[in-house]
Amino acid sequence: MSEQGIKSAPDLSVRIAGLRLRNPVIAASGTFGYGGEYGGLVDVSRLGAICTKGLTLKPRQGNTGIRIWETPAGLLNSIGLENPGIPAFIEQELPRLREMGPAVIANLSGAAVEEYVGGAALLNGSSVDMIELNISCPNVKAGGMAFGLDPEAAAAVVGPVRRACSAKPLMVKLSPNAPDLAAVARSCVKAGADALSLVNTFKAMAIDVKNRKPVFDNVSAGLSGPAVRPIALRMVWELYDALRTPGKAGKPAVPIVGMGGIACAEDALEFLMAGASAVQTGSATFARPAAMLEIIDGIEKYMRSAGIAGVKYLSIR
Ligand SMILES: Cc1cc2nc3c(=O)[nH]c(=O)nc-3n(C[C@H](O)[C@H](O)[C@H](O)COP(=O)(O)O)c2cc1C
Repeated sequence: MSEQGIKSAPDLSVRIAGLRLRNPVIAASGTFGYGGEYGGLVDVSRLGAICTKGLTLKPRQGNTGIRIWETPAGLLNSIGLENPGIPAFIEQELPRLREMGPAVIANLSGAAVEEYVGGAALLNGSSVDMIELNISCPNVKAGGMAFGLDPEAAAAVVGPVRRACSAKPLMVKLSPNAPDLAAVARSCVKAGADALSLVNTFKAMAIDVKNRKPVFDNVSAGLSGPAVRPIALRMVWELYDALRTPGKAGKPAVPIVGMGGIACAEDALEFLMAGASAVQTGSATFARPAAMLEIIDGIEKYMRSAGIAGVKYLSIR
């Protein structure tokens, strides 16, 4: 449905699990630091929201060896969740992040359920607007993606985290590596997820042919960028159908935030048309720090020219 012939500026604001964003473009976790890193380059205040780098209860050094490897249409990364720990984040980074303007989404990671729960409890008492529970990081040896591959393992972490952060909306970030993504998603919703985001990176690898050994110390890494976009889009489309509920006029049980290779407004529009309520952009920012601002402008331009009054009317579902 569209609102044809609008004269005034289209309304780009969206609501995800009760959280209002000024527009549907979110900086993806791990690709925008804590916002300040890009402050001198772009007008960070224009973003809909910023997802922090993956945060763990205690500080993490991250992985040894090479951490980023460029591929013809994407990026392989094996950062290993380097971060200062949640207490230091709340004390040092969060006040600065808050002042920037966009909504703040804390990406919560962990190696064990108790660690996730401890982190969630601390974030619950902080000023973050939402928690994005990362059960899909392929670059840590324990926990991480292991929770996101199996419906029961996912529920075992989502349920306790949900109870530990009852004051915050909880978005669960899914792994494209799950053998049955719809089953994991349904299990997360049943365990209390208010929204779902997808995709995290695809498990992949590279070999350094000159040195005859895998590029990454962990052998495998996570693939992101334009190479994954059509697969990520298909996953968002299918998940929308898998989560449809008759009680909500055929809409999914919870909002879906889509990502994976989004680099321009047309890419973002594809995800919004597939039924995503908002989008995240990650790898594109490394090449073009202003990519997200161009995406916001491009979505607005499209809505204006098509006579579409609100973001939800972009959906073709
Ligand atoms: C260098 C790098 C670090 C990342 N770190 C995290 C992280 O800490 N937590 C997380 O949930 N996702 C992390 N991601 C995944 C992104 O948030 C995003 O899901 C993925 O890259 C797909 O989006 P893109 O193709 O636009 O980059 C990282 C991605 C990259 C490239």
